[in-house]
Amino acid sequence: MVSAVDAFVYGAAQVARIAWFQSQARLTARLSRGSFPKPKTPVSVPKETAVLREVLELLRRDWDNIRAGLYRMPHDLVPPPQRAVGDILRFLEDLPQVTDRRRTGRNDDVFRKPPPGTEALPRYFRQNFHFQTDGYLSVRSARLYDYQVEVLFRGAADAMRRQALPYLATFIERTAASGRRPQDLHLLDVGSGTGHFLSFVKDTWPLLPVTALDLSAPYLGEARNRLARWSGLAFVQAPAEAMPLPDASVDLVTCIYLFHELPRKIRAAAAAEMARVLKPGGRLVFVDSIQRGDRPDFDGILAYFPQAYYEPYYADYVAQDLVTLFERTGLLLGALDLAFMSKVLVFEKPCDTP
Ligand SMILES: C[S@@+](CC[C@H](N)C(=O)[O-])C[C@H]1O[C@@H](n2cnc3c(N)ncnc32)[C@H](O)[C@@H]1O
Repeated sequence: MVSAVDAFVYGAAQVARIAWFQSQARLTARLSRGSFPKPKTPVSVPKETAVLREVLELLRRDWDNIRAGLYRMPHDLVPPPQRAVGDILRFLEDLPQVTDRRRTGRNDDVFRKPPPGTEALPRYFRQNFHFQTDGYLSVRSARLYDYQVEVLFRGAADAMRRQALPYLATFIERTAASGRRPQDLHLLDVGSGTGHFLSFVKDTWPLLPVTALDLSAPYLGEARNRLARWSGLAFVQAPAEAMPLPDASVDLVTCIYLFHELPRKIRAAAAAEMARVLKPGGRLVFVDSIQRGDRPDFDGILAYFPQAYYEPYYADYVAQDLVTLFERTGLLLGALDLAFMSKVLVFEKPCDTP
């Protein structure tokens, strides 16, 4: 049950958060002026006010879900001051290097000078995604990642991730009706990054056992720190396209913002792996960027984004038919939902899968 005080806290904290990240985005634009490439084709981009309206709509939906008891109030609405100060200092310190990479188009620092122990990781992964320093391959990058993403999405990234939670809630509710409690289930988060999404999962269902799987050791380390207050956690460093997990071993798979960073062949292999590890009757909840045509008013942003933020597989991702990709693995589409710049796809593994 949420109270009027909760409503006030949520509203006030979110307004402050959006205003803060909006100001950070403006500052970033000013400090990076001249580094952004000219669009290859003319793009029409929605006005800032239209984007802000979309963010507010997303937050209204987030609040409605919380009020309906589908998940808890975000545990990190007001970050500890030392974390907030550390984030902004790290961000501003790194910005000139990001800007320089964007200006020169340099995107292979981590390939040319691989951090020790990363040489065996797949080539497609060893790039400076988003022009970020160290790509996904250092503790410094793992500490910076969430803040950078929130600046990009004006503070709305976490609320977009949370739009996966209602589909976990309905699954957990359904299995409860057949006598299975959250502690009897198992959730696998593929490409779990720094564990932000899983922190919302564990905050709502603390007894649900979860596995965080990611190729990046430093990102898994950050996830381990973030999730330290909960138990029932496993961390696996492995590729989504070859997961060291048995067939039919998990009830729920989640996958947030991974596929747009994978080459098409790897996307197909990762989708097949998710279907393989799901138990019959299990559910996949997938969240990633909207695709071309989902929101025609945003198509200009989708076209320009990979040029400005170095996303080598994004243009191909936005053109791929994801429903067909997953249905080829034997999963069936259960729901499709758009939330600001993200889309949520829900797939079920039929109970009679051999
Ligand atoms: C854009 S981040 C998304 C992270 C997180 N899910 C979130 O919501 O922020 C992509 C993550 O996928 C990981 N990753 C990229 N390719 C991978 C692969 N083939 N297998 C497993 N993880 C991968 C990266 O290390 C990174 O942590």
